[in-house]
Amino acid sequence: MTAKTSIKNGDLKSVLETHLFEGGSFERWSSAKKNIFEALNAAPQIEIPSLNQCPRDSIVELKRRCSQVNFAIYQMTQPSEDLEKTVTDLVSFTSLFGLSLQEDHRSGGQNGVVALTPSAEESKKGYIPYTPRAINWHTDGYYNPAGSPIKSFLLHCHRPAESGGVNEVIDSEIAFMRMYEADPAMVAAFFHPQAMVIPENVEKDGSVRPPSVGPVFFFDESSGRLQMRYTARTRSIEWRDDPATRNASQWMREWLVSDEPYKLRIKLNAGQGILNNNVLHNRTEFFDDPASSKHRVMLRVRFHDRIGEN
Ligand SMILES: [Fe+2]
Repeated sequence: MTAKTSIKNGDLKSVLETHLFEGGSFERWSSAKKNIFEALNAAPQIEIPSLNQCPRDSIVELKRRCSQVNFAIYQMTQPSEDLEKTVTDLVSFTSLFGLSLQEDHRSGGQNGVVALTPSAEESKKGYIPYTPRAINWHTDGYYNPAGSPIKSFLLHCHRPAESGGVNEVIDSEIAFMRMYEADPAMVAAFFHPQAMVIPENVEKDGSVRPPSVGPVFFFDESSGRLQMRYTARTRSIEWRDDPATRNASQWMREWLVSDEPYKLRIKLNAGQGILNNNVLHNRTEFFDDPASSKHRVMLRVRFHDRIGEN
């Protein structure tokens, strides 16, 4: 681990001052952060004609919002009904944002795009994303080895559900901010390199996913920006056995379901998507029209690098 990713509790304050507060205080940084959210809440939605015709100023604005609050939403003005074309276009669209380290996912097609839709396929059985069930708060790939975290992903709606399928999203830096306000000792516990362990798992194909051991908060080596690795699951998870970590995991579960004003709640329309630096998110249960064969389809591409800042 580099100096940026390895934080000893004793020097947490100075590392945070350098990498997050940019030489200022927590108070100044958090006040600026809140102002940015207020400004973005009042900003117009970013509309693009299509994924392969994204104007230069829209790319710049999407990157700017991702840099400021770690996520940005776009809406295609003419959504395509052609799923294959959308999948192809999504790959070239993500390349506009400097994303190149694409995840090799077992359910990814040739181009690594995963279609999240109810499925009876044997290889997808038992995985909640391929059912209409609710998905609890998490960041993507929280079970990955510590050396290959997911740093960003794009979630694009090809077809919404008849009802439900709402996503809630929270910027990782807001999670950090609220926890720091509550007790900096909990933040320090979540930076510990053994804070959260997801035990080994035998996958459906017989392959063994080794235990995933790592921090909840960490800094991206290349940009120095804050990232998160988290799941609100309570089974098949081992938190570091100390009071601060126990407090932090309980606090986080309670805060995520609280009335946080900077939490975004959105049901994505067809042609609408969220670009993000792997922020906290969940999904409500959804229902498709039983009379129709058209199910909800969300397309997802994950990366091991962050969205470019310029
Ligand atoms: Fe997810």
